[in-house]
Amino acid sequence: MGSFMKNIVILISGSGSNMAAIVQAAQREHWSERLGVRVAAVISNQPDAAGLKQAHGVATQAVDHKAFATREAFDAALQHAIDAYAPTLVVLAGFMRILTPAFVRHYEGRLINIHPSLLPAFTGLNTHQRALDAGCKVAGATVHRVTSELDHGEILAQAVVPVLAGDTAATLAARVLTQEHIIYPQVIASLLQAGVT
Ligand code: GAR
Repeated sequence: MGSFMKNIVILISGSGSNMAAIVQAAQREHWSERLGVRVAAVISNQPDAAGLKQAHGVATQAVDHKAFATREAFDAALQHAIDAYAPTLVVLAGFMRILTPAFVRHYEGRLINIHPSLLPAFTGLNTHQRALDAGCKVAGATVHRVTSELDHGEILAQAVVPVLAGDTAATLAARVLTQEHIIYPQVIASLLQAGVT
């Protein structure tokens, strides 16, 4: 089975809780046996990312963006590291770098991201504080395909949570994150099941 196994590569920058949720769903739901797919590697642009220590036995690697003079040079090195696994799907999970158009084009159709807002609202950073400042009554997260326009691309799934009285950006982020951990593995499993990638 090994040589026919499809690979997923997950890119992280921080705590890696979405990555851990995906790795655990793959184990719990027997993706190798059922879908012929495994999480082959977790790669971070931050060598000290906490998530690198939470990869549940998956191979980890750091490609430190600070070691490269240009965004193009970093993306080329990252692409080289990823392509060693010939992945069917590349999953951005709290990966906090803007990717070059060449990189995005290389992975067209097999690159997805999770963003902590109900896109197209609140692209970019500080999404939870901005949702609170705007007086939103609901917030959430979006799984989408990655195109060279930041936080655009086909929406694959969304989860909605209420904004509650007294919420801070931190309490809202935590409520949204629990839903991210549910929808991201679901989207990945259904993409692979459908043979979309
Ligand atoms: C998640 O909330 C994710 O949606 C967000 O960063 C967090 C990473 O948490 N991603 C972005 O803001 C992408 N622009 P995690 O490292 O624990 O998965």
